[in-house]
Amino acid sequence: AADDRIPRIASTIRVIQDFPKPGIQFQDITTLLLDPRAFKDAIDLFVERYKDQNINVVAGIEARGFIFGPPIALAMGAKFVPMRKPKKLPGEVISEEYSLEYGTDKMEMHVGAVQSGERALVVDDLIATGGTLSAAIRLLERVGVHVVECACVIELPELKGRDRLGDKPLFVLIS
Ligand code: PRP
Repeated sequence: AADDRIPRIASTIRVIQDFPKPGIQFQDITTLLLDPRAFKDAIDLFVERYKDQNINVVAGIEARGFIFGPPIALAMGAKFVPMRKPKKLPGEVISEEYSLEYGTDKMEMHVGAVQSGERALVVDDLIATGGTLSAAIRLLERVGVHVVECACVIELPELKGRDRLGDKPLFVLIS
């Protein structure tokens, strides 16, 4: 369905050429955050989609999932769970490796933050190859959480990240 909020949100996202390295067109959501109406519209679009889906966990991926996840969680009365880079969380963690362009990285979550049978939404700003989101899904599913969907502001469809999520649905505002 056409929603005039989407083009407005899209128009606030800045593209920076050759960041962080040559050839990359970086999708900069900090300019969306400078526009309170666009920021609110983005959060509202997610909340409208998920509010009646009995989601009690919003898992946000470091770093920019920490910007979009918490307002969604608060609006839905869900808890917010940070999915972090290694060695950042102080308590006992479980971790999941995922592959990068060169080498691997790890994502960590606190033990006890979520319970088996809970229903989660995974939030990040952007999906590129899908490696990051797929690691988050695996981490949550390992402890028995049902991942209802992944939600991002932006998708880079040419990288086919969606294919890496298996049958897990992905919802994005801008593709
Ligand atoms: C970006 C983005 C996602 C991830 C997507 O994070 O915010 O988290 O990459 O890439 P993928 O789909 O190919 O896995 P980045 O690597 O820039 O880390 P940061 O958020 O900590 O800066």
